Amino acid sequence: MQHFTSVYDLPNLEEAVKTAREIKLDPYCYKHLGKNKTMILIFFDASLRTRLSTQKAAMNLGMDTMVLNVNQDGWRLETEMGVVMDGDKVEHLREAIPVIGRYCDIIGVRAFARFESKEDDYSEKILNQFVQYGGVPIVSMEAATRHPLQSFADHMTIEEYKTKARPKVVLSWAPHPRALPQAVPNSFVEWMRQTDYDLVVTHPQGYELDPKFMGDLKVEYDQDKALAGADFVYAKNWSSYLEYGEILSKDRNWTITADKMALTDNAKFMHCLPVRRNMIVTDEVLDGPSSIVIDEAENRIYSAQAVLKMILER
Ligand code: CP
Repeated sequence: MQHFTSVYDLPNLEEAVKTAREIKLDPYCYKHLGKNKTMILIFFDASLRTRLSTQKAAMNLGMDTMVLNVNQDGWRLETEMGVVMDGDKVEHLREAIPVIGRYCDIIGVRAFARFESKEDDYSEKILNQFVQYGGVPIVSMEAATRHPLQSFADHMTIEEYKTKARPKVVLSWAPHPRALPQAVPNSFVEWMRQTDYDLVVTHPQGYELDPKFMGDLKVEYDQDKALAGADFVYAKNWSSYLEYGEILSKDRNWTITADKMALTDNAKFMHCLPVRRNMIVTDEVLDGPSSIVIDEAENRIYSAQAVLKMILER
């Protein structure tokens, strides 16, 4: 595998999940692979889990790691082509990316949707410049439209907890005070559609995701109906794709509560974190026995490690 920017980069999804689960049982078993190799992690946006779990994954494989918080630790970077750089941006990505590539063997990059232009965000303007000019493998640590490392950990976690061959997995929109990107739900839907799970998506009118990710999957607009008989409830907020970046609802009737979870078949509660308590999900559910969010976050290490292993072995 050369780059990892979506589920489609994996040579074999089933094998990848199997590898991640094997690594979890023996995290240092591939420590020789990363000897004398360096991974640089570039953050245009904040992170807790992705930063630490990807670093841990690289270290478990014997790699050295370096982290750069762009715009805080480094020069402010220009991302637009053809501009006159007479403002506060000191360096262009066009030079910065190949320079970073000369200092390492793998680059991880996090660059969220900017919400300035739907076209720019959905063409993955920043991530694709890294792929084009990096000269080394690129791992997306959440881009404008996808968060594949998260979806991989989500898939791994469902595999660990499922009690049925074909579990019902419900992705439910939930309210949030700020406009969030569609990267996590896009990626989750795209990834789950590669499995044989019974995937149901529920959200208020106006929150339809890009059809590119939904394919022929139909939305169930009645959240209660969607939750009926669910084995996994994956809650997430996102802003509107159609009215790009807008918040159309903060309706707390969509918050995942114990009453909502009672509609399910004793479902496990999932969220990528960070999560807004009592907006997305109540304390009772998040702190209760059905919540598997901490295991889900732990699996970020092993899924990232499986990705890095495949890149190191290419
Ligand atoms: N889930 C996730 O990506 O968490 P961070 O934003 O903290 O990295």
